[in-house]
Amino acid sequence: MKKGIKIVTIGGGSSYTPELIEGFINRYQELPISELWLVDIEAGREKLEIVGALAKRMVEKAGVPIKIELTLDREKALKNADFVTTQFRVGLLDARAKDEKIPLKYDTIGQETNGPGGLFKGLRTIPVILDIVKDMEKLCPNAWLINFTNPAGMVTEAVLRHSNMKNVVGLCNGPIGIERGIAEILNVPSSEIFVEFTGLNHMVFAKRIFHNGIDVTKKVISLMTEKEENAVSLKNIADFAYEPEFFKKLNMIPIGYLRYYYKTAQMLNDQKRAFEEEGTRAQVVQKVEHELFELYKDQDLAIKPPQLSERGGAYYSEAACNLINSIYNDKRDIQTVNTRNNGAILDIDSNSAVEVNCLITKQGPIPLTTGELPVPIKGIVQQIKSFERVAAEAAVTGDYDTALLAMTINPLVSTDIDAKKMLDELLEAHKEYLPNFF
Ligand code: G6P
Repeated sequence: MKKGIKIVTIGGGSSYTPELIEGFINRYQELPISELWLVDIEAGREKLEIVGALAKRMVEKAGVPIKIELTLDREKALKNADFVTTQFRVGLLDARAKDEKIPLKYDTIGQETNGPGGLFKGLRTIPVILDIVKDMEKLCPNAWLINFTNPAGMVTEAVLRHSNMKNVVGLCNGPIGIERGIAEILNVPSSEIFVEFTGLNHMVFAKRIFHNGIDVTKKVISLMTEKEENAVSLKNIADFAYEPEFFKKLNMIPIGYLRYYYKTAQMLNDQKRAFEEEGTRAQVVQKVEHELFELYKDQDLAIKPPQLSERGGAYYSEAACNLINSIYNDKRDIQTVNTRNNGAILDIDSNSAVEVNCLITKQGPIPLTTGELPVPIKGIVQQIKSFERVAAEAAVTGDYDTALLAMTINPLVSTDIDAKKMLDELLEAHKEYLPNFF
């Protein structure tokens, strides 16, 4: 008999955890998980206990024999794990609020995965991920690391270049969201759609769209332009429509984050307005989280509450559970994940992380060739990859000048002078989470 699967979720106290539990429950027949360890740190103890108790009620109600363990002892949890999922936030939402707020003072986009905020989220996160990788090499050397912690692309890049870990996949709900948006606009089931994705995490493009084998890219873009819905909405990003002529000529669907690059001034003004009216996105999310945890405390609640869909990470458990299911069962289906490029995108370095369609097998994702990046997006994708590589190096070395270089080459930062000022202010603000720099 096969032994049951052991899964470890680091950042288990996250408000998203019920999504994951629901996904595992729904797939139990194919994915017989015997143990799910939810791990957190002391600062997350209370949340871990609340969400852990809900997780236990959920599996009990569903009648599946998944044993849920809650712990603050990461090493104990990792022993003999099969899959390790990471969904933690170094410095919690307070740190995110600073990443979103400080750049605004310099007339720069304040965002958790793009621009200066994305750089700092990477600087805080990468050393922690690399510590987890070291623990995994000791305690569960054959396990898969499935990372959702943002910035997921930069984190995957760092693991690929700065550790010996081979079994790593970076995951985002973005591509699934785009695919669903397309299916909705065409009014057909998503199973009939095939989308060829190319690019990087939060810098990905639906390059070609097929419906039952027919290329419908132009049709989808026309429909989206008519409905002024032209980049598929995400809960966390203002959904201004692009100029129709531009969008049609681009003839690809950019993930919502591209609005920060193609509509920088408009997005910046909107962020400033939102900041005055309701605070940063982190502050909005803090309120949603507070309400969610109040609901989670209810002893009668034993399902994932619908309020969770107010968060930007909708479908993330689908992405995670499908991926784990396909690796475990060697399904060889196609999913869009962050993995080593290996020549799938011809004009990105082979050893870099890219977000592309992959065949998901027991030996991991095999990226499918998508060829050269189309000329209109080649520059921005390569530029962001350069930024991610320099940023990952800064995170690992703690070198000030490398961090300054990363900040300055980011296309959302307008001058070297502002780059230095923002770097200094953000370093000071996040001091306690940046031991490599201090
Ligand atoms: C998006 C992204 C995720 C991100 C989330 C933020 O959907 O793909 O990577 O974590 O939104 O959502 P939030 O509700 O935290 O702003």
